[in-house]
Amino acid sequence: MKLDVVILAAGKGTRMNSNLPKVLHRIGGRSMLEHVIAAAEKLGNICLHLVIGYGGEQIKQHVALSVDVGSINWAIQEPQLGTGHAVQQTVAALNSNHKDNLVLILYGDVPLIKTTTLEKLLSLANAETLSLLTLITDDPTGLGRIIRGDGNAITAIVEEKDASAEQREIKEINSGIMAIPTIKLVRWLGELKNHNAQGEYYLTDVVAMAAKENCNIVANVIEEDFEIQGVNDKSQLASLERRYQMNKVDDLLAAGVTLRDPARVDIRGELEIGKDVEIDINAIFEGEVVLGNDVVVGANVIISDSVIGDGSVILPGSNIDGGIIGKNVSIGPYARIRPGTILKDNVKIGNFVETKNAIIGKGSKASHLAYIGDAELGENVNIGAGTIVCNYDGINKHKTRIGNNVFVGSNSVLVAPLELADNAFIAAGSTINRDVPADNLAIGRGKQRNIPGWKRPVKK
Ligand code: UD1
Ligand code: CA
Repeated sequence: MKLDVVILAAGKGTRMNSNLPKVLHRIGGRSMLEHVIAAAEKLGNICLHLVIGYGGEQIKQHVALSVDVGSINWAIQEPQLGTGHAVQQTVAALNSNHKDNLVLILYGDVPLIKTTTLEKLLSLANAETLSLLTLITDDPTGLGRIIRGDGNAITAIVEEKDASAEQREIKEINSGIMAIPTIKLVRWLGELKNHNAQGEYYLTDVVAMAAKENCNIVANVIEEDFEIQGVNDKSQLASLERRYQMNKVDDLLAAGVTLRDPARVDIRGELEIGKDVEIDINAIFEGEVVLGNDVVVGANVIISDSVIGDGSVILPGSNIDGGIIGKNVSIGPYARIRPGTILKDNVKIGNFVETKNAIIGKGSKASHLAYIGDAELGENVNIGAGTIVCNYDGINKHKTRIGNNVFVGSNSVLVAPLELADNAFIAAGSTINRDVPADNLAIGRGKQRNIPGWKRPVKK
């Protein structure tokens, strides 16, 4: 039996002051909508319904690019006449063939909801029971209030704009997230009226309908409010971002990582760590990053979609994107490792060295100021300061192959396609555009002349 999950994402989000649809704004590097979809997907066996309106096409494109889910039922809500009206747009596609079927309502702008919380909420709902996620808060301003009657039973949800002064004092609020028996929901949605302060079709009105029919209504009172916090403006987006980062950092600390300052690390994706990892301030991790045992990450390092092997050290200011880094490698300070770079064990990449599409063999070094692109280097190669691999002729990229124990003198230019065989030695300042056989010295530069008695120019 599939669970229908409806995610509301039709609103414009005027207060975001942005052209981007609200649910595409990001937290921890992923759109709010991606977070919500991921939390729902983890429930397993769901049928996903996305209600879109403002920026609908952009949302569809984003989901197609970034989310790996099965089919989605896209429901267009145009115009947007309220949350009840939004859910009405999905009715034809809901699985309403069995009385035990449930619909879970989520919001594209409530990004940090946890799967475990949703599982709890769903476990409370059934064919005769609607379950709500509520919160008790000192500041209920703007939110729907949970009305309880005899024996504390929930009888209705009243929106703030429709609430009496007395009802506004109520501290229990509606998160909006609820699980509802499908067949009943479909019937209730058909009976919604918009006779209220906002002239909208409120989803929350189904609660009073349920109470009238003696359908059970249970509340799961949530403890951690961040899970149900919605984002309406940039300030709320920023505070949820912080909250999200704090949660990530707590997990890392629990797993044994040493963080020089937990408030100054950002994880925008998934970070997997080994034992005894140390991370200095202002490190940013993007996409999928794996740090092995005893890895040290210096200050101001950015690592994206990379794997760093045991014992490797990333010195301050380095940027690693799409790298596969072996064991006991030293990178930086201020190195740039670009996609397609594979550094084998004990490699050293020093300051102001850039690599791209480069496989660098065990123990090889490029300690200062070099560019190594579209190249394959053997073991124990030494790349002198200022060496440039010219991989691009303006039209095509070409490959450079360098054997084991090759020594490239400082300020050399290696014009690809090129092969330097084992033990080749390149004299400093050479421009090399012909292959160098094994054990050869190659000198490719103008000969030095010394001119005795040369007079310096004099000022006129
Ligand atoms: C809603 C609830 C309120 C709850 C609050 C929690 C209703 C009537 N009220 O109020 O009880 O305390 O959320 O934040 O449900 N949306 C659509 N189409 C629409 C209207 C809204 O897709 O026609 C989407 C919005 O994009 C947004 C969400 O539904 O993501 C909530 O809508 P919003 O207008 O913000 O509802 P609230 O007034 O905050
Ligand atoms: Ca809202």
